[in-house]
Amino acid sequence: MNKKTVKDIDLKNKKVLVRCDFNVPMDENQNITDNTRIKAALPTIKYLLEQNCKVILCSHLGRPKGEVLPEFSLKPVAKELAKLLGKEVIMANDVIGEDACKKAENLKNGEVLLLENLRFHREETDNDPEFAKKLASFGEVFVNDAFGTAHRAHASTEGVTKYLPAVSGFLIEKELKFLGDAISNPERPFMAILGGRKVSDKIGVIESLLEKVDVLLIGGAMAYTFFKAMGYGVGNSICELDKLDLAKEIMQKAKEKNVKFMLPVDTKVGKEFDPNTESKVVKNSEIPDGWEGFDIGTETIKIYAEELKKAKTIIWNGPLGLSEFEQFAVGTNSIAKTLADLDVVKIIGGGDSAAAIEKAGLADKFTHISTGGGASLEFLEGKKLPGIEALQDK
Ligand code: 3PG
Repeated sequence: MNKKTVKDIDLKNKKVLVRCDFNVPMDENQNITDNTRIKAALPTIKYLLEQNCKVILCSHLGRPKGEVLPEFSLKPVAKELAKLLGKEVIMANDVIGEDACKKAENLKNGEVLLLENLRFHREETDNDPEFAKKLASFGEVFVNDAFGTAHRAHASTEGVTKYLPAVSGFLIEKELKFLGDAISNPERPFMAILGGRKVSDKIGVIESLLEKVDVLLIGGAMAYTFFKAMGYGVGNSICELDKLDLAKEIMQKAKEKNVKFMLPVDTKVGKEFDPNTESKVVKNSEIPDGWEGFDIGTETIKIYAEELKKAKTIIWNGPLGLSEFEQFAVGTNSIAKTLADLDVVKIIGGGDSAAAIEKAGLADKFTHISTGGGASLEFLEGKKLPGIEALQDK
């Protein structure tokens, strides 16, 4: 990475403003249901504490759109972080208000303060310069470790860098290393598994991957748009009728680029969008009217598993079926298990596929699971991430 990290500057005894991505899932009682993103921030926070810094953390949670809504408070994060760090995390009751300013002023070296949800201020997502300046006034140095939010040009990711020396934390460094190495210098055969609902959401990443991979395996609801483009009936399956030409172009491009483009040969269909709905596996060309495709089929699972066993590098983004429903999580879980046993570079590109791997208890079997959903997708698309671009060059 050509950006400076916390290791490239002297941070001893400094006041450091750190942007984390503590946007973690919570249940209706504000219990954190997956603390992966909090754990991922620990190496940088611990390093700053070793440097005897005053550590001022900030993050967003959800999309409260400028309103102060208690269900979007970061208080549960402060508690969880304190537990994981084994030390007190002081929680501010606001972001740049009186309470935050007082607590920041009284903060001692080696202490940690967490500001309230940045998105309680609309100025955060508007990248308002005054708001960014106020945030910046909390620190002498800015550390961005929020990989998951690096694709957003917000006040706390891009705006603050105009007022403070800005470097990356260890998480951003690690994400760029794993995702970057896999993309730019993969051991071959290099294969990508892409799932998700819509071709239109993934078109950027498909086009970018077609330039790089040897094999592209498609799953998820976007497969039905391809089926339709091939002239098959898709019943009630999700299908983007205005993207059929695009789907044909993608298949043509794959041929020209000599990329093996694999679509499911069969699919598991259900009667209704219901976890317990009646279901069956049918051939990709034989989806009956009135049924909806929710997962890849048993034959596809076998074929994909055999293909993936030949890979040396695998990137996976997007679940292969409706993995929230047990009976339609079979494709995703089976492929996850196949990958778990392979001794190759295996990268999960964040978001729902990462959640599915965590849920299956297979996270430790992967080379890297990105903490970024949208951010890793944009990175794989080859886009520049504003939160990273704004950091100081080495
Ligand atoms: C994510 O969960 O992908 C990040 O935290 C970014 O959240 P956002 O899509 O609300 O900006």
